[in-house]
Amino acid sequence: MIGIFDSGIGGMTVARAVEQLLPDYSLTYYGDIARTPYGPKSPQTIINYSIRNAEFLLEKGAELIIIACNSASSVATEALRKRFQVPIIEVISPAADRAIQISKTGKIGIIGTKATVKSDIYRKTITAERPHFKVYSQACPLLVPLVEEGWLNKRETKMILRRYLHPLKDKQIDTLVLGCTHYPLLKELIQARIGKRVTLIDSSIETARYLKEFLTDNPEIVSRQKPVRHSYYASDCTETAMKVAERIFSRPMELTVA
Ligand code: DGL
Repeated sequence: MIGIFDSGIGGMTVARAVEQLLPDYSLTYYGDIARTPYGPKSPQTIINYSIRNAEFLLEKGAELIIIACNSASSVATEALRKRFQVPIIEVISPAADRAIQISKTGKIGIIGTKATVKSDIYRKTITAERPHFKVYSQACPLLVPLVEEGWLNKRETKMILRRYLHPLKDKQIDTLVLGCTHYPLLKELIQARIGKRVTLIDSSIETARYLKEFLTDNPEIVSRQKPVRHSYYASDCTETAMKVAERIFSRPMELTVA
């Protein structure tokens, strides 16, 4: 079974992409809604929470774990890989690799939470492969609460986005990584504000594609049980979380509190 965790519900964008791309695999999702958001927290706190989340999934029988949260991927991947035996897949490298493939000018923009931007992980990953590339990062701390409030098409959200994206537009980037699990829900607004010529990279889709390739190369890692089961757990269940979850999946969701 594939285990997926996030700081809350945003990682469901990754789970949905995995459900669609790998329909023959069972998955178990854990959203740490009780402790969300991770984005403004310190690296050590995010590492401690991530270890607990991974332990939960391993108890449920996970044979591989996806850290479906950019903030946790940025700071906790190494700690989880050291501690646990199962493969740990993060969301940064798949998105960074795609950005490298797509960018023609070598000018790449990154938007994410404070934790992700502060870690500088996207720039480090991209320039390790392409030292001459320029990577410009912008923390967008107001976007997660706006998505969680369901303010997806409000004037205020558009204004805030314009303000966050302005410096990246000035740098004439040709590729923009949506480095946070919530941002795919704002894709159309972001595209309209950054301009049609900029290609958006959705880390949830890139991670699901990466996982598919990984499982094709390593088919023994995750067993395929019949019937396929998709189980969704969370450390708390709020009305806001359920609304966002149902918006992501476009179907009624059942979330078990554990
Ligand atoms: N899941 C987080 C991320 O992708 C966003 C929400 C949070 O800050 O916890 O960075």
